[in-house]
Amino acid sequence: MKITTILLAAGALMLSATGSALGADAQHGKSLFESPALGGGTSGKSCLTCHENGRGFSPNTLSRKTYRVMDNPVANLAGVVNFCIEVALRGEAIPENGEEMNDLLAYLSVLIKNNSGKNQ
Ligand code: HEC
Repeated sequence: MKITTILLAAGALMLSATGSALGADAQHGKSLFESPALGGGTSGKSCLTCHENGRGFSPNTLSRKTYRVMDNPVANLAGVVNFCIEVALRGEAIPENGEEMNDLLAYLSVLIKNNSGKNQ
């Protein structure tokens, strides 16, 4: 009985510590960013392979009205991420409003903030 209570309390602590109560989880986004398995990728590459230290990103990456990737017009940021997943990771697009996308975008914003001015 007591052990159950302690386990429950520990579980609740862990949940709040991961920030899942705050919505998007940038820490989880970071691990997705570094994973070649994102979207079932088959090229062995991860986002990190090409975008280490935020390479290719700029402060207006998150707010641009239109995007072009490798000369292709893309409607929005989630579309760009899926473009990179399909073309660079050779995986399948992930849902644009899903948890993985939200977490990835949350991490992108942290990454860009931490590196702004360092590499354009
Ligand atoms: C093989 C290299 C490669 C990989 C791997 C890759 N990208 Fe890209 N990414 C690019 C290139 C090239 C561009 C376009 C740069 C350009 O055309 O100016 C780009 C553009 C972007 C942009 C738009 C930046 C801007 O300011 O317009 C975002 C966001 C982005 N990638 C996110 C990701 C994410 C998230 C992943 C992992 C799922 C990823 N990329 C994996 C090469 C890559």
